[in-house]
Amino acid sequence: MPETKTKPGLNLARIDELITEGREQKWALIPLLQKIQEEFGYIPPEVVQPIARALGLFPAQVQGVITFYAQLYTKPQGRKVVRVCRGTACHVRGGKTILKLVKQHLGLEEGETTPDYEYTLETVACIGVCALAPNIVIGTTTYGHMNPKKVAQLFGEGKGAE
Ligand code: FES
Repeated sequence: MPETKTKPGLNLARIDELITEGREQKWALIPLLQKIQEEFGYIPPEVVQPIARALGLFPAQVQGVITFYAQLYTKPQGRKVVRVCRGTACHVRGGKTILKLVKQHLGLEEGETTPDYEYTLETVACIGVCALAPNIVIGTTTYGHMNPKKVAQLFGEGKGAE
């Protein structure tokens, strides 16, 4: 699925404000990146140069940190991030089928976002509630004991969790 590098309507002026605020308050690089992600849902590629200039770093250093931390997203995320567990407990209880069905319903592969930025699909190693396997998480809500019917209820025509 095609993915734009920058989410349409990105407020570049607001990014400049955040960078200025970060420089004035002497924020370290990671808190500044977290703040940008909090507001925009990801780290737009346009911020690398201005952040490097503001904090007296090389752009490669800024990019290196963004790439290193899995919690920092380099692509726009959907309003609802769907995480399907692929841990062992979920796997043996049908997690693979659940992932396949979620992919079909959303028309996404792992790491992709719908063109309307409604959903992003990810997989995770274990979300820590193995007793409820198989599990998926949408946003901050965990859905346990998943089965094909529940997937259809969550993602079927005209439906959307949260
Ligand atoms: S393996 Fe899925 S929650 Fe632990």
